[in-house]
Amino acid sequence: MSYLQEYQASVDDSATFWANKAAKLAWYKKPTAIISQQNGFYQWFSDGELNTSYLALDYHIEQGRGEQTALIYDSPVTQTKRRYSYTELRDEVAKFAGVLKAQGVNKGDRVVIYMPMIPEAAIAMLASARLGAVHSVVFGGFAPHELAVRIDDATPKVVVSASCGIEVNRVISYKPLLDSAIEKAQHKPDSCIIFQRPQHQATMLADRDIDWHTAMQDATPAEPVPVKSTDPLYILYTSGTTGKPKGVVRDNGGHAVALHYSMQAIYNIKPGEVFWAASDVGWVVGHSYIVYGPLLAGATSILYEGKPIFTPDAGAFWRVCAEYGVKAIFAAPTAFRAIRKEDPHADLMKQYDLSKLDTIFMAGERLDPPTYHWACEVSGKPVIDHWWQTETGWAICANLAGVELLPAKPGSATRPVPGYHVQILDENGQPLGANQQGNIAIKLPLPPGCLSTIWGNAERYTSGYLNQFPGYYSSGDGGYLDEDGYLFVMGRTDDVINVAGHRLSTGEMEEIIASHPAVAECCVIGLPDELKGQQPVGFVLLKNGITTDASIIQNELVALVRQEIGAVACFKRALVVPRLPKTRSGKILRKLLRQIGEGENYQIPSTIDDPACLPELEQLMKQHGLA
Ligand code: COA
Ligand code: AMP
Repeated sequence: MSYLQEYQASVDDSATFWANKAAKLAWYKKPTAIISQQNGFYQWFSDGELNTSYLALDYHIEQGRGEQTALIYDSPVTQTKRRYSYTELRDEVAKFAGVLKAQGVNKGDRVVIYMPMIPEAAIAMLASARLGAVHSVVFGGFAPHELAVRIDDATPKVVVSASCGIEVNRVISYKPLLDSAIEKAQHKPDSCIIFQRPQHQATMLADRDIDWHTAMQDATPAEPVPVKSTDPLYILYTSGTTGKPKGVVRDNGGHAVALHYSMQAIYNIKPGEVFWAASDVGWVVGHSYIVYGPLLAGATSILYEGKPIFTPDAGAFWRVCAEYGVKAIFAAPTAFRAIRKEDPHADLMKQYDLSKLDTIFMAGERLDPPTYHWACEVSGKPVIDHWWQTETGWAICANLAGVELLPAKPGSATRPVPGYHVQILDENGQPLGANQQGNIAIKLPLPPGCLSTIWGNAERYTSGYLNQFPGYYSSGDGGYLDEDGYLFVMGRTDDVINVAGHRLSTGEMEEIIASHPAVAECCVIGLPDELKGQQPVGFVLLKNGITTDASIIQNELVALVRQEIGAVACFKRALVVPRLPKTRSGKILRKLLRQIGEGENYQIPSTIDDPACLPELEQLMKQHGLA
């Protein structure tokens, strides 16, 4: 089957296309309603019943693959390596589901998981899924405030956490962060289950905290609970344009069908083969391609607690690929930029046998052509850039390694994945022609696996994604389709930035900076960063009468953002400026600041209030290495 045939089949008769894909899964009740609508929203497989944890574990055991490795934990930061067969992983998951059940977790209840990259994070996710509960994993690099916001929104019955995470050689104690988050949150979970790691023992609260190991000793394994296809599997919060993150809701049925299909069609992974997504379970890539995708496919997944460099060196990725016979690796371009910086000729790769490695996949941010070329040259493997978002849960555009590899074009995520009808629209929603840049939109219905709503806020789903262009999902990304239908994603059209493959909201940073008593006004923009793609930079106007040295305030602002969002925000630059460029109606001209920072030619808008501030700003930015 060629790419075009596969794609055409998905658009000509999408119900038949997806019914065929769904038929490959072992549903408890096979769906007959493939696509339907409820309250104006599309639903996939609405009368189907299944359990995602069963499909990811028990099903493979029933097929005779119980002894096959399901999960490999490789942790250079703790010098640990461990393999779980499908049977071992299922048994751990069933027991932990029993622990959750004993804490009162039932179908539909929420479980927040705030964990480092240890197998117990995946076990907790799958255990929640086993009970038909809804997990919400919070990335371990987020500060208490961020965790508190998520706890308040998801209102979990239980929080699962660990005593510490390890950042290269730094032990980060999680428990004080968790305690502080629960103190800040309005909602209080009934209990917290804490996995004590040998590197650091957490102090437990007698009336709330439960020790993971002790609870597992007495646990009664829980069986999978059938859920409706449309029942939520998880909530994953992602940055929007405001300070309040959006809880992307993923259903069970569409998710299982889409990920199962993607493992074969996009990544060309068959049961028993080894797939490695070098991400974190706190991000969508970790959900889809460390935990659910590879397990739904009966493959072997790797959970890597380390970095691309420093653990111990820039050969780490190649070592893991060789050691476990990885067939496809998936990581963010930033990781490869970091490796390239440390080891430009990939000398460290030469000691490893990479003959089993077929393909390198990248996503999470724009794959710049120099990094693309470097990765192709040093590895000699096809490098596939693919574009997707937390909201979609799987790739929107890709080169389908399991269908037909099309000629690659550097800078492009290739062509739409079957099921996605991608169009470029102008501001009025009119389709644009080839090579014309505009808003990237996806014609409704979205394929299975994409967000079904925003948790507790269907209105935000509609207003944030569906209202801008009726009949379409607005991706928030801008770009163009070329004459061959290849998509080039050029960047966000909103206030979301991408730092080291991590999605961050400049609006949220602005809210935090504005809370500083000396700040009158501010704006945060993303400026180019050689390693991390973008770095956030704050421009700050102080209140009249503030005499404190600007450098002191700048440092305080950096510390404030780190404290409120976390180190992962990478907010290291705040610049006190005498004036901010604004329109006469008072809107800060962020685009102009970005253009100055990127060294682009800019046109002074006619609406600008005080054009004289521009040369002054440009000079200041140059002085600080920001232009
Ligand atoms: N828990 C606690 N802190 C964390 C963390 C976690 N899980 N993850 C990151 N941090 C901290 C880091 O220690 C660092 O702290 P510092 O400012 O005190 O040094 C900060 O957050 C920024 O982290 P990061 O952006 O990862 O930068 P780095 O300089 O530590 O590492 C790279 C650079 C390139 C190695 C790293 O960014 C990387 O691996 N990027 C790939 C990202 C990725 O896989 N994204 C997933 C999307 S697919
Ligand atoms: P996240 O929701 O964290 O996965 O981030 C999604 C955003 O990352 C997208 O909206 C894009 O802006 C960006 N992104 C992800 N993958 C790519 C890619 N392959 N090329 C360009 N941008 C990408």
